[in-house]
Amino acid sequence: MKNPFKFGSIVEPPYFMNRVEETRKVKSILNSANHLIIISPRRYGKTSLINKVAKSLKRPFIILDLQLITTQEDFASQLLKRIYRVYPAQKLKDLIKNFRISPSITLNPMSNAIDISYKVTTPETAKTALEDVFNLLEKLGESKMKPIIIFDEFQEIKRIGDNLDRFLRSVIQHHKNINYVFLGSQESLIREIFEKKKSPFYHFGYLLPLDKIPCNEFLLYLTTNFKELTEENNSVSEKILQITKCHPYYTQQLAFTVWELLSNDNKIKEPVATAVDELMKHHDIDYERLWNTINRTDMKILIGMSISESSPLSEEFSKQHDTGPSSTVFSSLKRLMKNGFIAKSSAGYEIDDPFFKNWIKVRRLK
Ligand SMILES: Nc1ncnc2c1ncn2[C@@H]1O[C@H](COP(=O)(O)OP(=O)(O)O)[C@@H](O)[C@H]1O
Ligand SMILES: [Mg+2]
Repeated sequence: MKNPFKFGSIVEPPYFMNRVEETRKVKSILNSANHLIIISPRRYGKTSLINKVAKSLKRPFIILDLQLITTQEDFASQLLKRIYRVYPAQKLKDLIKNFRISPSITLNPMSNAIDISYKVTTPETAKTALEDVFNLLEKLGESKMKPIIIFDEFQEIKRIGDNLDRFLRSVIQHHKNINYVFLGSQESLIREIFEKKKSPFYHFGYLLPLDKIPCNEFLLYLTTNFKELTEENNSVSEKILQITKCHPYYTQQLAFTVWELLSNDNKIKEPVATAVDELMKHHDIDYERLWNTINRTDMKILIGMSISESSPLSEEFSKQHDTGPSSTVFSSLKRLMKNGFIAKSSAGYEIDDPFFKNWIKVRRLK
């Protein structure tokens, strides 16, 4: 029997579930002349969703993760490299002849992979190189189907180059043959880019916030998959969701681990608690390192959140955990969110990683 759960990378069917309404929405926007922005905390399923929809539309599409881009010229070369994967080299060759800044393009005869690099001397020439590549995309969109160009972790644009967001906007606002999609994880940053009046990307496209997968849908998915392994499938599934609060990534991770334990010995007692314990031990070194990067106020808030369900902004919480004035708590929450420790879903503030949450709680009880 094969473990039916998957976590970590993009999921596709059969691991991909639900998101029916979101799929419909994304499709309809990509079939229109509009651009799309999807935001959610990390690991809610943005990349998986867009990948699934883009594939189903059978149009040329490119996904570029800006987290791995170092500079503006790197941006230009990585984008061009992905264009080569989608369009025929001969056609590109003719169009690239008109580039103002010429990239060096080499074909590795062994792997058949294309290597692209730019020798640029100033940020301005790098911007020109990037503009050439973006305008190439628009040109390619004229002849055949409209391409879908997806920038993952788009908030990183701020790091890659000075005023790069402004520059990009000025180039792509003229494009009519492309649907651009921007995915973003650090909610405050990405909202600043698309919702602040002064920002160059203000109201640039349809903004779709992605929430967790509804718990009842997840429950059905888990009970169905655990059925072949245990008669306790209902209670096992409920326990998993109680711990993960239906977070897509952590639910898959915990379900995967519980499945491993049960397939090894389906008489095992407390498979869910055992799996949580295993995951906590597995991450112990990382958690300890993380914990030591946190300041004292943030620690107090995380400790409070690990044992209490009340909102960290409530008076009750502040009294119980001695977290000080609400302005301090608020800036602390902002910092914790920025660093990925907590996330805000429709249910309010939560410690993002349920195993880290448990780790804090267990450590305090020791
Ligand atoms: N629709 C889905 N169905 C099942 N699991 C999902 C779904 N979307 C996300 N996941 C789980 O969450 C993990 C992270 O998804 P990913 O698309 O990388 O999120 P993001 O791009 O928001 O960080 C996946 O590896 C998978 O375990
Ligand atoms: Mg992603």
